[in-house]
Amino acid sequence: MGLVRWFVGVLFLSTLLLCSADVHHYEFFVRESKFKKMCNTSTLLVVNNSYPGPEIRVHRGDTVFVNVHNRGKYGFTIHWHGVKQPRNPWFDGPEFITQCPIRPRTNFTYKIILSEEIGTLWWHAHSDWTRSSVHGAIVILPAENETYPFPTPDGEQTIILESWYNGYYKQIIDQALATGDPPRLPDAYAINGHLRDTYGCPSDTIFRMEVDYEKTYLLRIINAAMNEQQFFTITNHTVTVVAQDASYVRRFKSDYILISPGQTMDVLVSANRNVGLYYMATRPFSDSAALAVDLHFYWRFSLQKQSGWIDCFLDTASRNGRYGCYA
Ligand SMILES: *[C@@H]1O[C@H](CO)[C@@H](O)[C@H](O)[C@H]1NC(C)=O
Ligand SMILES: *[C@@H]1O[C@H](CO)[C@@H](O)[C@H](O)[C@H]1NC(C)=O
Ligand SMILES: *[C@@H]1O[C@H](CO)[C@@H](O)[C@H](O)[C@H]1NC(C)=O
Ligand SMILES: *[C@@H]1O[C@H](CO)[C@@H](O)[C@H](O)[C@H]1NC(C)=O
Ligand SMILES: *[C@@H]1O[C@H](CO)[C@@H](O)[C@H](O)[C@H]1NC(C)=O
Repeated sequence: MGLVRWFVGVLFLSTLLLCSADVHHYEFFVRESKFKKMCNTSTLLVVNNSYPGPEIRVHRGDTVFVNVHNRGKYGFTIHWHGVKQPRNPWFDGPEFITQCPIRPRTNFTYKIILSEEIGTLWWHAHSDWTRSSVHGAIVILPAENETYPFPTPDGEQTIILESWYNGYYKQIIDQALATGDPPRLPDAYAINGHLRDTYGCPSDTIFRMEVDYEKTYLLRIINAAMNEQQFFTITNHTVTVVAQDASYVRRFKSDYILISPGQTMDVLVSANRNVGLYYMATRPFSDSAALAVDLHFYWRFSLQKQSGWIDCFLDTASRNGRYGCYA
């Protein structure tokens, strides 16, 4: 009897060890889709008709297979940004470096081996201008036997900062290559595909996140904007930075963050201010004197019941990222 129990115990333990890393399968169908924004209809290359693309959600140490079907007109590849891919370089993705482009009407299955990465990364197309719209988050939760090194948040939200270009995505890079100039500046900036609602166009929307009073949220912020550092803030709130580029960091509090293109930052924010609506705001840092000083981008951040709107701005013209609000 004692022997049987012991044997069962060993079986159980080995099953637990075998189950510690999961394998996930995703199907990506990449094609051109039309999006109505800024009173324009623009054609973008996207995954599964979605801008931004689908989220990959795994635990630390898992393995992911992504079968990428090219239903577009041109070849491209997908890069798993920041995944170390130990002993697996041929699935890293840069076009013409580790593989040839995935040709139209063909598919290619990536094997993505996660090892010590924890927090947030992202994936993006790695050819010409395609990464401006072919991108999405990789959320890496602690392994089943691990916890966060900070109090477990009550909820979480992925925040993808993006640049928006009106028109046909391919034209932007073709024009730049033809003239030898840098690609033109974006027409707008987006949070999770929302451009804000102040362009006076009926199809434009604002990104809203609803939170409960006194709860703490983990924001997984990804700068997917093309070549631009971005400021990000939430009015009247401070954020605590807990991770960067899929590593935990020594925690620090700040009124705003400055995030580089390709970078990710995980921050905690507590909904501990008066119940109301607060803007999330992002705008590019730019050295260019050509950028108008009054370009302000607003997003609304809703905290339970509405009690009014406040306007906020990030003033990067003064180079120190000051921000303020008017009621
Ligand atoms: C993408 O779309 C295909 C076909 O509609 C679907 O089978 C697949 O699950 C979708 N992938 C994701 C990641 O949502
Ligand atoms: C539509 O896009 C074109 C090309 O970028 C731009 O010139 C025009 O101003 C846009 N229309 C609106 C309403 O923003
Ligand atoms: C292409 O997709 C099919 C079906 O979805 C799959 O069986 C095949 O292995 C894929 N080929 C490659 C090269 O990934
Ligand atoms: C969790 O399990 C993995 C795989 O068995 C192991 O490498 C890791 O050290 C464990 N982590 C903790 C905190 O026990
Ligand atoms: C936000 O902060 C500003 C400046 O400190 C203050 O005037 C305003 O009342 C605050 N708003 C809310 C809703 O707490």
